[in-house]
Amino acid sequence: MSEASWTAAPGAPLRGEVRVPGDKSVSHRAIMLASIADGTSRIDGFLEGEDARATEAIFRSLGAGIEAPEPGVRIVHGVGIDGLRRADGPLDCGNAGTGMRLLAGLLAGQAFDSTLIGDASLSKRPMRRVTGPLAAMGARIETGAGGTPPLRIHGGQALRGIEFDNTLASAQVKSSLLLAGLYADGETVVHEPRPTRDYTERMLAAFGWPVDFAPGLARLRGGYRLQATDVRVPADFSSAAFFLVAASIVPGSDLLLHRVGMNPRRTGLLHVLRLMGADIVESKVGEEGGEPVADLRVRHAPLRGIDVPEQHVPDMIDEFPALFIAAACAAGVTRVTGAEELRVKESDRIATMAAGLRALGVAIEEAPDGAHIAGRADGFAGGGVHSHGDHRIAMSFAIAGQRARGPVIIDDTANVATSFPGFVPMAKAAGFGLRED
Ligand code: S3P
Repeated sequence: MSEASWTAAPGAPLRGEVRVPGDKSVSHRAIMLASIADGTSRIDGFLEGEDARATEAIFRSLGAGIEAPEPGVRIVHGVGIDGLRRADGPLDCGNAGTGMRLLAGLLAGQAFDSTLIGDASLSKRPMRRVTGPLAAMGARIETGAGGTPPLRIHGGQALRGIEFDNTLASAQVKSSLLLAGLYADGETVVHEPRPTRDYTERMLAAFGWPVDFAPGLARLRGGYRLQATDVRVPADFSSAAFFLVAASIVPGSDLLLHRVGMNPRRTGLLHVLRLMGADIVESKVGEEGGEPVADLRVRHAPLRGIDVPEQHVPDMIDEFPALFIAAACAAGVTRVTGAEELRVKESDRIATMAAGLRALGVAIEEAPDGAHIAGRADGFAGGGVHSHGDHRIAMSFAIAGQRARGPVIIDDTANVATSFPGFVPMAKAAGFGLRED
């Protein structure tokens, strides 16, 4: 991996207007479902990030026709539910856990064998959470030692639906089983301990597959077909999150974020920042392509530490690195519990954030499922931090730099391109002091 790095230091108050790129979760799913639908689908607002592009490349090698007439647009010529064909070599998911876990389910139902591989970070991530229940459906998938990638998927298995009570709140696991369920005999039902993002269910319904879902439950039967449809991808709330936190902590900021995806299973950070005293106002609330969207105006406000309510954890699971930065600037202590899943994201996000915050003079106590972060009115010391190849850690410390007393050097920033291409110029235009080294 390239050892790109950034230097972040206070810039100007964040002002003006920002339009963040398309949602990563929705972009993956749109390529997958459009590829196995009958007919041609158009995807608008597709995320031109490495994760979504890895999924796109995989479906091309599985036989789907995908055109990219302009940035953010894909025209997908679907091959039908049974139309995919064996790829010539291993399928490289890059950094994308979502890509690999969802593909494991979808490919388990094909007539041919496939091998899924990933980058150094993905190669360490746990896959038994999907291969276990998929095996109960009749799938044959071998993992590497320790349940990590590569995944060797043996096709030609007769899958049957199961009723699965997940102990994890995981949209990736739910979605993987639902995609296998398209190819299974009978009904596939997933129960969750807390509701997770429901994009797979919503999008299956939009492509005409009967699916029954409510918060914490999803159910479908095999044996139908998907009909091509156009998909409008909303702006990614997780990308907007960096600007919500940055404008909240930099005095004098007043920033408008355009048309942000506001699916309630994604906006936990908004509730938590407001509990901390943030000034974020929604306007032009509406719908785009079946998803709620809104403009968000965020102004600087003094924050206070809180105990983060556990009910919000799955709805902000990708936003904890940014929240830790907000907590470090808040008055008092912020306590995070019930977030052990952070240990198995693109990096161990509790350990990576704790190491970085300590390097910048912040007192943080780690727990297996969270952390206690002591806020400081004077912000961060300057220093060096390492992202461990984790895009969201890199962007979070770029925010920290905006409230630092000396430069913050962030190592290993190349993976920001997985989810947020163009972050640096967008952040600089809004007022960030940020340099690519
Ligand atoms: C995702 C689900 C979440 C999230 C990830 C994207 C998805 O993972 O962290 O970035 O698109 O389904 P888990 O389901 O593992 O919590």
